[in-house]
Amino acid sequence: MSLDDEVRDELARLEAAHRLRVPRVVDGLQGPHTTVDGALVLNLASNDYLALAADRRIARAAAATLDEAGTGAGASRLIVGNHRAHAAAEDSLADWLRVPAARLFNSGYAANVGVLATLLGPDDVVFSDELNHASIIDGCRLSRAKIVVYPHLDLAALERALTEAASSAHVPRRKIVISESLFSMDGDIADVSALAALCTRHGVALILDEAHAVGVWGPEGRGIAAAADVIPDVLVGTCGKALGSFGAFVATTRAISDLLWNRARPFVFSTGLPPLVPAAITAAVEIIRGTEGDQRRRDLSTRARDLRTRIPKLGGAPDSAIAPLLIGDDREVMQITARLLEQRVYVQGIRPPTVPEGTARLRVSLSAGHSAQDVETLTGALSHAARHFT
Ligand SMILES: Cc1ncc(COP(=O)(O)O)c(C=O)c1O
Repeated sequence: MSLDDEVRDELARLEAAHRLRVPRVVDGLQGPHTTVDGALVLNLASNDYLALAADRRIARAAAATLDEAGTGAGASRLIVGNHRAHAAAEDSLADWLRVPAARLFNSGYAANVGVLATLLGPDDVVFSDELNHASIIDGCRLSRAKIVVYPHLDLAALERALTEAASSAHVPRRKIVISESLFSMDGDIADVSALAALCTRHGVALILDEAHAVGVWGPEGRGIAAAADVIPDVLVGTCGKALGSFGAFVATTRAISDLLWNRARPFVFSTGLPPLVPAAITAAVEIIRGTEGDQRRRDLSTRARDLRTRIPKLGGAPDSAIAPLLIGDDREVMQITARLLEQRVYVQGIRPPTVPEGTARLRVSLSAGHSAQDVETLTGALSHAARHFT
């Protein structure tokens, strides 16, 4: 059998298991209403939580830098790819988040892998929530540290694991706890105050992934840790979701940021972001931290509460823009997604391995640009497409 034949078999097996993923094509602007596969749909599948991905002011800032700097950074940031726009975005992120330093990465995936594989090694232990994102799982694996997975949000179990590690014969060089603050597929929230207190008590460092929370939660949109007055050792945020752009950042101390510049392999061995991207990030931060950002956050949380009043079976924290509806069966969830699309409502069905076996779900994702009418449209469409689940 040729490699191609083997791969065709693999794809056929995925299809038979209702796990095959096929691309859909978007035209025009990303937004609460977007053209998908040629049809204008109510878009409840995007992470553009503040409806900034199509913002003209951000686009103009990017376009001005495109004119000035062209399309490519040309090299790694460590060589000749470190444009003034990168440094300006890092400064503006650090100022906004009130940390000594911020380091841009080419994506949140690269940031998690880079941070974890840089800060951890074979002599270390990492404690990771069982529902952490794939990029965290991959970073933990790549680091070659011992990985202790604790049950989702279960701080009592985490405390037991930390106590056990402290009394084991093998004393690790370093111990780190890593958790998302707002979980991407469940919309629920870690108790970051309790998590930080636990880490302090056990002398363990804390990394928080706020990919779905920065921009959306906390004072000036600084995230869930900021709302709880917690400063983690490392905060990872992405610019591809609420910031409406692309790339990611690590907000941390000067020393950790400098070490990432020297050692984080996805950063060192990769071309820098095109300068227009950090220019967009800087423009987005200006909007997000101001009164307009406050208004967008209020609109989003009003919509999220409204949605849960209308569809009480939706999960996630009451204010969370991420609202899952548990279906269970992979085939059924994709049938519901298809039936919703027939009504021009796009809600992505999420299947394993993105979520655990038997927990396939619809992931409703709101933005500040959705109206009360949009929520009503979703409610009506869902009651046709998934009657017994709503
Ligand atoms: C919790 C979490 N961390 C990191 C990422 C990766 O971010 P990016 O899309 O910028 O690669 C995601 C993306 O979905 C995520 O959900």
